[in-house]
Amino acid sequence: MKTSELRNKFVFFIVFAGVVTLLLILLPFVEVPIKDYLADFFGSTDRRMGDTGAMLFDQIFRVLKIVLWMSLIVSIIRFINQLVFSTAFSSNSYEISSLLRNVFSIILYIVSFFVVFNSQYPTVDLAALFTTSTILGVIIGLALQDTLGNLFSGLAIQADQPFQIGDVVKIPTKGEGVVENISWRGVTIRTFQNKLVVISNSVLGKESIEVAPRDNLNARIVFFNTLYANSPAKTIQIVREVVRQIENVSQKIRPLVRVRNLGDNGIDFEIKYWLDDYSKYNDTDALIRQRIWYAFQREQIEFAYPTRTLHIETKPQDNVFIETSNEIYERLNNVPIFAPLSDEETRKLADASHLRVFAPGESIVRQGQKGDSMFVVHRGAVDVQIKEEGVTKTLRVLREGDFFGEMGLLTGEPRTATVMTEGETEVLEINIECLKPILEENPELVESLSLIIEERRLSLDKPEDKSMKTEFKDKASVFNSIKRFFGLKG
Ligand code: CMP
Repeated sequence: MKTSELRNKFVFFIVFAGVVTLLLILLPFVEVPIKDYLADFFGSTDRRMGDTGAMLFDQIFRVLKIVLWMSLIVSIIRFINQLVFSTAFSSNSYEISSLLRNVFSIILYIVSFFVVFNSQYPTVDLAALFTTSTILGVIIGLALQDTLGNLFSGLAIQADQPFQIGDVVKIPTKGEGVVENISWRGVTIRTFQNKLVVISNSVLGKESIEVAPRDNLNARIVFFNTLYANSPAKTIQIVREVVRQIENVSQKIRPLVRVRNLGDNGIDFEIKYWLDDYSKYNDTDALIRQRIWYAFQREQIEFAYPTRTLHIETKPQDNVFIETSNEIYERLNNVPIFAPLSDEETRKLADASHLRVFAPGESIVRQGQKGDSMFVVHRGAVDVQIKEEGVTKTLRVLREGDFFGEMGLLTGEPRTATVMTEGETEVLEINIECLKPILEENPELVESLSLIIEERRLSLDKPEDKSMKTEFKDKASVFNSIKRFFGLKG
């Protein structure tokens, strides 16, 4: 609770308690004169009437005192309740259940009522009245049947603590959601459609409840399938890598990808992964499926389709991701760094490069990993990011026609940065085998690449950070290193 709210409650409590206390103090002063006056007034005509009137008012004053005392006590208990549970436990990660607060208050109310009642009616044995009066017991019992059922089921839940506020629970007949409140009457859960469902404790006691505790690593299973033509080992490796990179997939346990079944239509797989925040599993499942589609598109893996279908659909030739080699050639021809290449060499490079498509926010190369290919942005844009003291910083945005990954490819060193897509991005991947003969034939290409690598290195190196420093002091050392790495002569 906010401090200002608490302050307001405190002021209200002080004023209210002050007024009630004042009334309690003043009451005896007016009680005696009124009673005397009534006795005189009625007694002047009839003595018995005078006594009855005084007795009646005596009862009224007693009840009034009970009411005033109880109001004072209720307000004190409520205020203490707020203070103890809201301030003392505010550092607790879970809110203290309102059930505990209510039970605590109810016990105090009952005890106080007994005390106050006895102070006004010392001769009446209230406890005996409650325990011996069968009719009263039956009436109260019937009236409170459901309420007491809920209260005791609630107490059982509280003692058992099968779930806490913030846990995700699934109740077969009621649905699934995050527990928001546990009260003496029931449990409130917020469903994934943002609706509130209140389930009474007595109903809950009879249900089987599936709980995903908030501070636990809960797992999910997602299914997919591929054609029999695709190697399961390759599929498993690719999917595992894709899943690991997704936000909210826990890094503490490696996701499992395994063959679930050799089905009618293809190989059925399942992914078991653990979530940091289980309440967001719908989004995470969806992102996994989306990323698998993109990875499959890049790696030419196909989802299974019903093999009994009689209608055979041929793959459309104008698939958006299949580019003509002409288009690739045009792209490479317009990259300034490849300007010294002959037409034939550029054509060779175009034929040997692969068009890859990446999802928004996916990393194409990752800082620290080894890599033996470089990339030219064909469509879209990518961010060159480095991690410094745990903070990710974007160094450059590369757009269509820009290239990256040349540093790792040409020097054999780990990737100096992570390159991440902004939106859906298509890149041309050029690997070491197809580049080597071209570099051998074009020393000027090696030279201009060395120049760019040196420039990029300079913006990576921070003078104060020696660990980021590379072994390359100038363009010549980069040049020599490339030649050494590729075994080039001259
Ligand atoms: P590589 O080290 O193989 O992988 C990460 C890539 O990010 C790197 O090659 C470069 O292509 C690119 N890169 C690193 N630093 C910069 C920079 N300062 N400007 C542009 N691109 C960069």
